[in-house]
Amino acid sequence: MSHRDFSEQVVVVTGASGGVGAAVAEELARRGASVVLAARRAGPLGDVARRCGSQALAVVADMTKRDDVQRLFDEALARFGRVDIWINNVGRGIGRPLLEITDDDVDAMIRDNLKSVLYGMQVVTPHLQARGTGAIVNVSSLLGRIPLPPRAAYAASKAAMMSLSEAFRMELAGSHPHLRVVVVYPGRITTDFGRNALGQPTAPSARLPAEALAAVSGAPQTAEEVAHVVCDAALNARGDVYTQPDASTHVRAYQEKQS
Ligand SMILES: NC(=O)c1ccc[n+]([C@@H]2O[C@H](COP(=O)([O-])OP(=O)(O)OC[C@H]3O[C@@H](n4cnc5c(N)ncnc54)[C@H](OP(=O)(O)O)[C@@H]3O)[C@@H](O)[C@H]2O)c1
Repeated sequence: MSHRDFSEQVVVVTGASGGVGAAVAEELARRGASVVLAARRAGPLGDVARRCGSQALAVVADMTKRDDVQRLFDEALARFGRVDIWINNVGRGIGRPLLEITDDDVDAMIRDNLKSVLYGMQVVTPHLQARGTGAIVNVSSLLGRIPLPPRAAYAASKAAMMSLSEAFRMELAGSHPHLRVVVVYPGRITTDFGRNALGQPTAPSARLPAEALAAVSGAPQTAEEVAHVVCDAALNARGDVYTQPDASTHVRAYQEKQS
């Protein structure tokens, strides 16, 4: 895509104080977008917004709180007059064997990985429907397709988010064909995600099925590499997008082995 291909576009990015979200925000700004950045920590969020330049607005918000998500949308509208693209990037991991998963773990996964996305979609969609165009981009994980232990609760929450997104895509297709719902499936990324996760940062066992392990055993991507795919997807994609070239092949091999 060409230089400044997001000019005139207003893009909201959640989870933008670090990791993939910060890299997405910075690439969008370089490509000409006006960006609205949300996260809970004001300091790092402000630093990212400053790096994005004058067309950036930082909004301290917790995406697991409906009122905060509504305020994020309201502040975006007040500053830029509209939203074209909304990127639900917030997410949190967990590494815990199935028999040790607690109610609090499940609640945290559903709150952080499902409700945060649901709230974003519910808040922005009436605005996008009224405009007849736009995109919602939800950042999932390959583990939403291939649920490797000990990350079952994380994988389940991402799979739930995928179901929500796919059903919503179908719901909108007839009435609003120019409104895109995109789901991005990264593999491993070199961010603070592991440190921010609940439970143990244990690697998947080498005894897992080869088709499943193949999907997660390649070299991790950088936040910038993933951000580039997310940005291109936000501009053009329909449906599902993998950030690694071989990922869809691995997912198909895994699914065929299960059937
Ligand atoms: N890293 C990986 O290996 C990997 C692999 C596949 C998929 N993913 C997915 O990629 C996305 C980005 O992950 P990442 O690696 O960039 O993670 P990260 O480094 O842990 O960054 C998470 C970002 O989300 C923000 N955040 C967390 N909870 C929030 C909340 N409730 N409200 C608002 N902001 C919140 C954090 O900032 P504050 O603390 O300031 O709020 C931070 O900016 C996630 O959806 C993740 O599941 C990651």
